Amino acid sequence: MKVLHLDTNHPLLINQLKDLGCENVENYKGTKKEILEIIKDYDGIVIRSRFSIDKEFIDAATNLKFIGRVGAGLENIDVEYAKSKGIELISAPEGNRNAVGEHALAMILALFNNLKKADLEIRNGQWLREDNRGIELDGKTVGIIGYGNMGKAFAKKLRGFDVDVICYDIKPNVGDMNCRQVSLEELQEKADVLSLHTPHNELSNKMVNAEFINNFKKSFYLINTARGSAVVTKDLMEAINNQKILGACLDVLEYEKSSFENFFESSDSDNPYFRELISSDKVLLSPHVAGWTVESKEKLAQTIVDKVENKFFEKKDKVENQEKQITGIGGVFFKAENPVHLKDWYKEKLGIDVNEYGASFVSRDLDNPDKKTFLQWSTFPKDTEYFNPSQKEFMINYRVANLETFLEELKSKDVTIVGGIEEYEYGKFAWVLDSENNKIELWEPIDSHLL
Ligand SMILES: NC(=O)c1ccc[n+]([C@@H]2O[C@H](COP(=O)([O-])OP(=O)(O)OC[C@H]3O[C@@H](n4cnc5c(N)ncnc54)[C@H](O)[C@@H]3O)[C@@H](O)[C@H]2O)c1
Repeated sequence: MKVLHLDTNHPLLINQLKDLGCENVENYKGTKKEILEIIKDYDGIVIRSRFSIDKEFIDAATNLKFIGRVGAGLENIDVEYAKSKGIELISAPEGNRNAVGEHALAMILALFNNLKKADLEIRNGQWLREDNRGIELDGKTVGIIGYGNMGKAFAKKLRGFDVDVICYDIKPNVGDMNCRQVSLEELQEKADVLSLHTPHNELSNKMVNAEFINNFKKSFYLINTARGSAVVTKDLMEAINNQKILGACLDVLEYEKSSFENFFESSDSDNPYFRELISSDKVLLSPHVAGWTVESKEKLAQTIVDKVENKFFEKKDKVENQEKQITGIGGVFFKAENPVHLKDWYKEKLGIDVNEYGASFVSRDLDNPDKKTFLQWSTFPKDTEYFNPSQKEFMINYRVANLETFLEELKSKDVTIVGGIEEYEYGKFAWVLDSENNKIELWEPIDSHLL
């Protein structure tokens, strides 16, 4: 496969694609016109946001099999047209969702505690304690609009803050243990803080306008780490002036260029609402960097490689060694009289870092040290049916290189298969019984999803 890289990324992306057998060409400077002339020679492109992938580009890319977008959204790509041409669209929200969750939290805490203002005052010789009395998140209701990768990551970060977290989403049944899904009306009635996590689309474009703001029952704080197009700056500034909006944390701006590399597409920097925005101490700004961390650079690259490998290549372990199907242990599960107390015991006495699912042990793949692998350790209630038909107290999960072919192999060896293959974002699963009727879980993992 010949892959054209249009933006710089973490070096592991090119290194690992090379290991898979891809020929990589880097072109970070060519104009879109120049790229259009050569794109027919490529099977794949890897891009962040350098330019839009429109119909003209797709028509010229006659051999293209995939577009890897090293980021979360796909709005710079004509998705429907690319799909109609059979092009696989690969994005990597798993890579930067944690960064976005932490950034949204950092911004609201900084605003609530006047950190930017107080820091500047001290540097100017002022020590103003009463002026900088903060407010707390505790007891507040945080409303999230758009409960996908980013919204969920933010809700997860809010655990432990004693806040009520609610979300509104156009998809039904997206709520989870960290967040209750409600109607837009309920969110507007209850929220003290509103955080946007929607992609750019017809519904989210200019969503936060005067009417939308006035439908909130209480005055509220706004966080926008989604897209600048979701908030009408003019209406935001009016709401800040009349105290319907008490403060705003904006990582993205209406005035950004579509490449996100600069602001002001065509309008001039004399825009009065922009000038008002940057002079307000009720506003905290960052330059579209919520998903932009040292860690996310690596995770985004790894996610793209894993998805390309999964879609277009036989798993390396399988090709190199036909016999080596089991590549390691992926999980250890056991029944407990009281799973919660038992987990607490392991935490307190053995220092294992447990969460509600148990614990994840991370290691490096010996053959490929760039790659992290995971082992899940979990306790289950005594009456769990998950280990059925086995009545044993434990179940082991084994990592496999290629689940489908391995299951075929096991069938031909008369191994009992329990149920069918189940597929999740973090990999494929199947279950079999060993000769003592212990149920075994088989997992073809996508480790990058767990990063
Ligand atoms: N600031 C940054 O650095 C940064 C980084 C990553 C992502 N983002 C932004 O976050 C967005 C969301 O990313 P994601 O991975 O969570 O996407 P996602 O597709 O996983 O989730 C988006 C959710 O929003 C819902 N939705 C869409 N339009 C809606 C609307 N108008 N009203 C209510 N719900 C709506 C969808 O049903 C979906 O559940 C991206 O598209 C991007 O714009 C920003």
